[in-house]
Amino acid sequence: VKAAVFASGTGSNFQAMLQKKFLEAEIVLLVCDRPDAKVIEIADKYHIPVYARPPMDFPSKAAYEKKVLKQLQVHRVEWIFLAGYMRLIGDTLLSVFPNRIINIHPSLLPAFPGKEAIEQAVRAGVKVTGVTIHFVDSGMDTGQIIAQQAVKMKKGESLSQLTKRIQSVEHRLYPETINKLLSRSNGL
Ligand code: GRF
Repeated sequence: VKAAVFASGTGSNFQAMLQKKFLEAEIVLLVCDRPDAKVIEIADKYHIPVYARPPMDFPSKAAYEKKVLKQLQVHRVEWIFLAGYMRLIGDTLLSVFPNRIINIHPSLLPAFPGKEAIEQAVRAGVKVTGVTIHFVDSGMDTGQIIAQQAVKMKKGESLSQLTKRIQSVEHRLYPETINKLLSRSNGL
């Protein structure tokens, strides 16, 4: 199964997928909305094609997504994995990939959607937070939940220590969930 990863930032989840010994999906394209993002260096290192035109260069979101869609079709992409992609996906892509776009989010959704989810959880004083993998719909972190793992808060822990623990859960849970999901849908 060929897949594209969409990312805007450092790309540690992208790297974790590439490092997984056996991933059910072959990652054939990175789509990045920021030409200066770190994640592009990872793609280069693994010789994965990159599409990194800024959406600002296009007259509308639909025009941008149409161009992205063309790239996805050229590479015969069937699944899209969002990994720190800081934009909502619009109808142009959602209609072509129904239930074929998934996202990872660093909280136990529906708690703390949107930006700075880990900070939001710390500020709220919750005792447990975690990681969610979900299907993508037109909302912000609102699609059907596929997998979750809880992470307990530790007393006196700094935000960066908590962030590290959450990331290490992400890096294991995302490739594992992709494998489960794809082996299930291939069997249908
Ligand atoms: C991750 O915490 C992910 O859950 C969120 O954005 C972050 C991306 O991190 N959606 P990275 O770029 O994969 O390191």
